[in-house]
Amino acid sequence: MPSSDGSAPRHLVSIDDLTNDEILKLFEVADRIRADRRQVSRLAQGSIVASLFYEPSTRTRLSFESAMQRLGGGVISAADMRASSAAKGESLADTVRVVGAYADVIVIRHPKEGAAKVAQRYAKVPVVNAGDGSHEHPTQTLCDLYSLRVEKGGIEGLDVVLCGDLKYSRTIHSFAFALARFGANLVCAPQPGFELPSYVVHRLRHEYRVEPHSVEVKDLETVAPQMDAMYFTPERPHQLSLFTDIREVNVKKFDALYVTRPQRERYTEAERSVAAPYFRVDRAALSGAKFRDTVVLHPLPRIDELSYDLDEDPRSIYFEQAARGVPVRMAVLGFLLGLFELGTAPPAPRSPIRLRTRGGIECGNSNCVTHAERQYLSPEYHLVSREPLLIRCAFCDHEQQVPLLGCSSTRHFHFASSAEVARIKPEHLVLFASEHQAQSAGYVAAGTRSSANRE
Ligand code: NCD
Repeated sequence: MPSSDGSAPRHLVSIDDLTNDEILKLFEVADRIRADRRQVSRLAQGSIVASLFYEPSTRTRLSFESAMQRLGGGVISAADMRASSAAKGESLADTVRVVGAYADVIVIRHPKEGAAKVAQRYAKVPVVNAGDGSHEHPTQTLCDLYSLRVEKGGIEGLDVVLCGDLKYSRTIHSFAFALARFGANLVCAPQPGFELPSYVVHRLRHEYRVEPHSVEVKDLETVAPQMDAMYFTPERPHQLSLFTDIREVNVKKFDALYVTRPQRERYTEAERSVAAPYFRVDRAALSGAKFRDTVVLHPLPRIDELSYDLDEDPRSIYFEQAARGVPVRMAVLGFLLGLFELGTAPPAPRSPIRLRTRGGIECGNSNCVTHAERQYLSPEYHLVSREPLLIRCAFCDHEQQVPLLGCSSTRHFHFASSAEVARIKPEHLVLFASEHQAQSAGYVAAGTRSSANRE
């Protein structure tokens, strides 16, 4: 809902849209709701949430709808977008512009990475990302963090193992960023071939000063009795969590094990044909002393990666984790609708260096929303680093290198490796995919005679 002072609505598209203080305040609201739901049972009367689900969902959609109804609000739901105008070829931008007039908040799940960011751009009401491809799933992360806080009393300093398909699990990406921000220690135990994507690793490294280091998932089983071999820890006391050499640290216990299913629907042909069995967590895998007090989390649904023999185990909290999704999402909806004041400052505006592209550099991520919505959406990038020259898609966050850069002031273009690139002012940077592209746009190679003539 646009706020009463006319300012832009708040959205929850990435976990970075909330500060740590805001997250903790939302958890306090969720605590109060759990203690007495009746206090808020009419709070959202007259407001409507629209759930737009372009991908299957049980928990996320139903818990959002339950949350809105428990706040006294209404729900309109397109649970299967194949039965909507999307099937006729309607663009995402048009759909959210229209649905934003029918509802006060939009909850969207979409197979394309960056889709929720597109929805945020075109809707005039708050947008909540309920999962965009394998990119992010921030409200699942709030449920996961909330469960850790309830079970362990806090998040900072916890030792958390992330296990399974770390490549395509969007829940893992948002969760890893949040754990890093709250100062938890992370152990990555990926299924071989399904390690954290490089853009997640880079972001952990550059934005949270976290140095990732992965261990093969099979080690979880075989190394379990001497689990020291899988630990990553903060390097300096006041630094955010940092993965370092696992052998350096002697961890006594693990606080949490977060298991994810193989995200087969996102696999390439080659990945689908890999025969390696997916790691399975069962009682035997958790028999070591270091797992004595480990809570087992899973965003669900599970396939075979989490044995049913753990369901009655007191360490298993995945069904509680799912149940807590309702009060957490009640807090989120109430906040975005302006019904709760958190009394905390919003995140400082991030001002990444936005780059202009001439001649269209395509995002290297084939599942990026820019490929699917190209009739109105142009690729946009932010500068990550100049050496090496690395750009990040403004929609899906994937990073890539660019071969050529131009300066809109001198109208020269330079190879990315050129020392001159560092001297171009950010507002003058222009990206090119090829020399031909640069020349067609009227740029000349730096140092050539024609460029010299222009100086
Ligand atoms: C997750 C998702 O959709 O990303 N499910 C959920 O929201 N609870 C995890 C998954 O599908 O594996």
